[in-house]
Amino acid sequence: CGIVGYIGSQEASPILIEGLRTLEYRGYDSSGIAVFDHKLNMVKSKGRLINLEDKLKVEDLQGVLGIGHTRWATHGEPSDHNAHPHMNESGTIALVHNGIIENYISLKEELIEKGYRFISETDTEIAVQLIDLYYKEDNNLLEAVIAALHRIEGSFALAVVAEEEPDKIIATRKDSPLVLGIGDGENFIASDVPAILRHTRKVYFIEDYEIAVVTKDDIVIMDMDQKRIKREIFNVTWDIQAAEKAGYEHFMLKEIYEQPKVIRDTLTPRLPMDQDDVYLDGINLEKEVLEKITRIYVIACGTAYYSGLIGKELIEKYARIPVIAEVASEFRYKDPILDENTLMIVVSQSGETADTLAALRMAKKAGAHVLGVVNAVGSSISREADDVLYTWAGPEIAVASTKAYSAQLCAMYLISMKISLVLGKLSTEEFRELRAALYQLPSQVEHILENANLIEAMAKKHVNMKNVFYIGRGLDYAVAMEGALKIKEIAYLHAEPYPAGELKHGPIALIEEGSLLMGLLGQESLFDKTVSNIKEVKARGASIMAIAMEGNKEVEQVAEDVIYIPRTHWSLVPLLENIPQQLFAYYIAKNLGHDIDKPRNLAKSVTVE
Ligand code: G6P
Repeated sequence: CGIVGYIGSQEASPILIEGLRTLEYRGYDSSGIAVFDHKLNMVKSKGRLINLEDKLKVEDLQGVLGIGHTRWATHGEPSDHNAHPHMNESGTIALVHNGIIENYISLKEELIEKGYRFISETDTEIAVQLIDLYYKEDNNLLEAVIAALHRIEGSFALAVVAEEEPDKIIATRKDSPLVLGIGDGENFIASDVPAILRHTRKVYFIEDYEIAVVTKDDIVIMDMDQKRIKREIFNVTWDIQAAEKAGYEHFMLKEIYEQPKVIRDTLTPRLPMDQDDVYLDGINLEKEVLEKITRIYVIACGTAYYSGLIGKELIEKYARIPVIAEVASEFRYKDPILDENTLMIVVSQSGETADTLAALRMAKKAGAHVLGVVNAVGSSISREADDVLYTWAGPEIAVASTKAYSAQLCAMYLISMKISLVLGKLSTEEFRELRAALYQLPSQVEHILENANLIEAMAKKHVNMKNVFYIGRGLDYAVAMEGALKIKEIAYLHAEPYPAGELKHGPIALIEEGSLLMGLLGQESLFDKTVSNIKEVKARGASIMAIAMEGNKEVEQVAEDVIYIPRTHWSLVPLLENIPQQLFAYYIAKNLGHDIDKPRNLAKSVTVE
């Protein structure tokens, strides 16, 4: 979910709506705003933000103080009732919430006993009624919010307004992101920075259980005992254009085309040509730290996890330290071996994914060293990790991750090189060979993008496929997983990644006419093995596509459609192989007429477990 708030002297509604539009990627099944004008007025709507905007054309909400919300349902289906803001029964307090209140059932029972009635199925409504309960005690919104915070368990970013105190918004958070934007005679609240970037570049980040009293001319941050906290202003340097489409039909396509720049930005400042070393922004991976590391975990979700699988292979290959890569939602409920000799690398575009953050906290508690690979500056993971290596991909708006994945791969290359160098496992010769190959990547990606029309034509040809199998061996298999995920996410087709050699142990039974096989053949040492597997599938009626390195013409004997990628070092093949996969998924989805940037049922940033 995403929340926004405004207080100042301009009309609040358009500012809230514009902020919500930037936040729609966080969830978009319903939305709503509440604005103060002598009393609190509220409009909410199921579905996309456009539905809310249509309603607002009829019920114009005027006023200079307001809060808004765009929702991704957790408790209660998407509906007008369940949309935020939520109000107390008399309509004098309104609240927006991102997160999950875990003890809402017992709180609800308690409130019902006290005579409260509920109109939604959300956990959020409990929060506003609880605040109402305490507000009745001494008519002080700040005190009431703090009293409610003592009772609420779970995760939240909250913004609350009260009719009797129309000069302020109270905002607070725990385990859900929240930023405060500092204006001139006006102030802002939002779940993340792009939502307020049009108005200010000066922000405060607040920490768990800190409370902000946001008025027109001031922002006061305090702890639960109302002790004032002094916070440094953070100056955002992002370019606002970067968060807009720049002429492309979809954010996803724009972000695919940004990859040469993203790769260059992430790699080159850290790999000076005149020194045989990797510079990781002052990160503490010195010999004394690394020598005691006996085990490395790479923990992430979704696409970030698939980048982690590549990282695992490379660190093991070069540095010879055992690496376990696991999805965060599994890891956090196991009893993993974590101690001060453990290095945990957490990978996250948003830096807010709830499961990944929980895994990070487990590791820190056990004394492990945590290195975050994060894209969103100032996000929770970036603040809580011991060290952070930023992927300089810029804001990624399309739900399906593209440029962030490429940047994450670059980070994996840098980290594996750094660890191996420090431990003396990578020779200068190997290092130089890798660096030279890395420097080639941006122009090689450009070359693939210049030939996007070939991939577009292949997508058109295969658009009616029933299902698609992505197969490969070694690093190619890790890339296959990301390729299949993209097809599921935006084309809504059944796509299955499989290790090429394992296909005959089951999934081959699913192959029939109408199936498509995408063979990944970038790993030349395994080329012949995978080609044999492709033959087995071809014999059972599937259409065959393949991605291979230039010069491997034999592939044309088994595949009807071949995409060649420029020649590179074996470990960098994944980055190049994945570009055609992104384009293929994009064009299939486009041919099918899907909502590419906002696929059904998905959210960009999953801040609930
Ligand atoms: C969601 C997004 C994916 C992303 C995953 C992990 O599922 O839709 O694109 O890979 O979360 O997100 P993170 O921000 O932690 O990389």
